[in-house]
Amino acid sequence: MREVKTLGLIGTGVIGGGWAARALHCGIDVIACDINPQMEAWIRGAVETAAPSLDALTEGMPTPPKGTLSFTTDVTEMASKADFIQENVPEQLELKQKVLAPIAEMTAADVIISSSTSGFMPSELQEGLTHPERFLVGHPFNPVYLCPLVEIVSGKETAQATKDAAADFYQSIGMHTLMVRKEVPGHISDRLQEAMWREILHSLNDDIATTRELDESIVYGPGLRWAIMGMNQIYMIAGGDGGARHFMKQFGPALEWPWSYLKAPELTDEIIDRFADGTAEQAEGRSIRELEQIRDECLVAVQRVLAKHNMGAGQTLNNFEKRLRDKANSKLYRK
Ligand SMILES: NC(=O)c1ccc[n+]([C@@H]2O[C@H](COP(=O)([O-])OP(=O)(O)OC[C@H]3O[C@@H](n4cnc5c(N)ncnc54)[C@H](O)[C@@H]3O)[C@@H](O)[C@H]2O)c1
Repeated sequence: MREVKTLGLIGTGVIGGGWAARALHCGIDVIACDINPQMEAWIRGAVETAAPSLDALTEGMPTPPKGTLSFTTDVTEMASKADFIQENVPEQLELKQKVLAPIAEMTAADVIISSSTSGFMPSELQEGLTHPERFLVGHPFNPVYLCPLVEIVSGKETAQATKDAAADFYQSIGMHTLMVRKEVPGHISDRLQEAMWREILHSLNDDIATTRELDESIVYGPGLRWAIMGMNQIYMIAGGDGGARHFMKQFGPALEWPWSYLKAPELTDEIIDRFADGTAEQAEGRSIRELEQIRDECLVAVQRVLAKHNMGAGQTLNNFEKRLRDKANSKLYRK
């Protein structure tokens, strides 16, 4: 596979903008392509907004000079210049297939094409593509420029070399690559998030709690722990000296009790209102932009603290710093 000097993006909304900011910060040029010419101003704004957070996240690290961003509405131009293409068009299967087919036709076999899809399986997107072996799913998390997780999922026809090269590229831009063993709808993380969200909507529907109370139940308790260890390791510790087996014995039987639902409630106007009105009330007059800024400052601070303990996303940040230092040193050595 090619060395990635230019990242091609197709679809430059929330996720495309996040990929652009992360790659540019790591010295990679980006050619962004969107059907809507107005997205040029949007993506330039998104990159500018993300830059201070990225600078703060990597403060003290030998980051390379920033890459250059260009924009086009011409997919042929994007495809001809990109060494690696990340697809980020809306989550509609037919649209994604329609967008991917000509891109695969126009690009050489050594250009990896990766989809940011939140839920489609790579085999569904890969079927019929030219050189399907260089296609895979690289599912990121919003904001892509600060959340390091990328789920790498291969389809029936994806080559192992594609997975390895994609993982190497994503690590080179500071990401944690989770190699998903089996393609399933929703990959790993979104299935977990959706299960929780389903319960949230039931609680709203049954008038058990408001959006604020539901968020408090996460933020002050389990959510605080999850960034450090995740649910399984945390539950092992909660078993005390008896560890995981004791925890299972104590809380396993509760799984049989009807604490949670498996099916989502019907999305009536009432439940949508409760969700929208509740979250608006929680915002306390702050705009989405202001909330994003608070979220980003906290995401940076949390990761820098985790780095001191070499835990979770902090370990990814340490690995990224080591990679940058090795690269900077090897350049010095060659001079
Ligand atoms: N938003 C999230 O939290 C999130 C997280 C992870 C993954 N994803 C996935 O990323 C993808 C994009 O999501 P998003 O939230 O950025 O969507 P978005 O609506 O913000 O952006 C989509 C962009 O694609 C463009 N587009 C539409 N049709 C196009 C075409 N034919 N050619 C080129 N551009 C086209 C639109 O103009 C728009 O700018 C989806 O597959 C989604 O599931 C989203």
